[in-house]
Amino acid sequence: MVDLDGRVAIVTGAGRGLGRAHALLLAERGARVIVNDIGVRNDGTGGDPAPANDVVAEIVEAGGTAIANGEDVGSWEGAHSLVSAAVDAFGDLDIVVNNAGILRDSMLVNMSEDDFDDVVRVHLKGHVGVTRWVAAYWRERSKAGVDRRRNLVHTSSTSGLYANPGQANYGAAKSGVVTLSQIAAKELAKYGVVSNCVVPGARTRLTMASPGLPEIMEAPAEGFDVWDPANVSPLVAYLSDGACPFTGETFYVQGGTVRRLEPWTLVGESIEHSGRWPLDELATAMKTFRH
Ligand SMILES: NC(=O)c1ccc[n+]([C@@H]2O[C@H](COP(=O)([O-])OP(=O)(O)OC[C@H]3O[C@@H](n4cnc5c(N)ncnc54)[C@H](O)[C@@H]3O)[C@@H](O)[C@H]2O)c1
Repeated sequence: MVDLDGRVAIVTGAGRGLGRAHALLLAERGARVIVNDIGVRNDGTGGDPAPANDVVAEIVEAGGTAIANGEDVGSWEGAHSLVSAAVDAFGDLDIVVNNAGILRDSMLVNMSEDDFDDVVRVHLKGHVGVTRWVAAYWRERSKAGVDRRRNLVHTSSTSGLYANPGQANYGAAKSGVVTLSQIAAKELAKYGVVSNCVVPGARTRLTMASPGLPEIMEAPAEGFDVWDPANVSPLVAYLSDGACPFTGETFYVQGGTVRRLEPWTLVGESIEHSGRWPLDELATAMKTFRH
């Protein structure tokens, strides 16, 4: 039984889509949840406290405990304040689900500096900032003798892992998120922290804005809705559990499917030279690689 009773969780970008579904399930399993969301449009512009407040109201209505938080995760100080707000409200912090995100799709030849900076800021810096501040807090607690399992869950994308054209900014950030998760797993193990990554597929505002996806992801009139964002949340809740045995792992999750991904792996092919490769010999030897 996954029991999150008494645990405190931050879910970033929890006002809509996947984050909302994660927050609802964590709260249903007993976690006290900080529903973080600045309520921006898909492209990161605007701002509205209503989505976060609405999710808090939903959780409270169902008998759970939650507070809203409007910090921008892409800001270093905003990330710090978010972590502090959780500890101030509930006395501790056990779980961080990094999930907030925006999109500014563009081919490389057209990409503006802002489109790159803003997407990397929300996704990569947004993941790193919250992780950095919660890591410092968990180290302090561990050194003070508090021995508790702590859980980080990060959100990557197939766009980052399989390189989706038109998303160089987003894909580069999402690829970085997986490495961040693995480094956090190694660095923070001594403080009782496990860090894992999910690669979701679901019908949300973000995917509904992508050409071709609304038709594929349409909800069926009856039967299992494989693109419901709530299908992703059981894995997130499992990875948030104090008994979670995994760390440094990445799982694809969509509908009823969970698949484990391997990290970057050296394949069997290799060429060797006793010293530095002479350029022309290297050019010949490179032909032995499959291409
Ligand atoms: N939906 C999918 O199929 C899919 C696939 C791969 C990855 N993802 C990732 O899942 C995460 C959730 O996306 P979603 O599909 O639920 O989209 P969504 O647009 O429904 O939700 C994202 C939420 O993040 C919030 N947000 C954006 N910038 C923020 C900031 N700086 N600080 C705090 N909150 C902020 C938005 O206001 C929004 O409510 C994203 O990281 C996304 O890249 C989604």
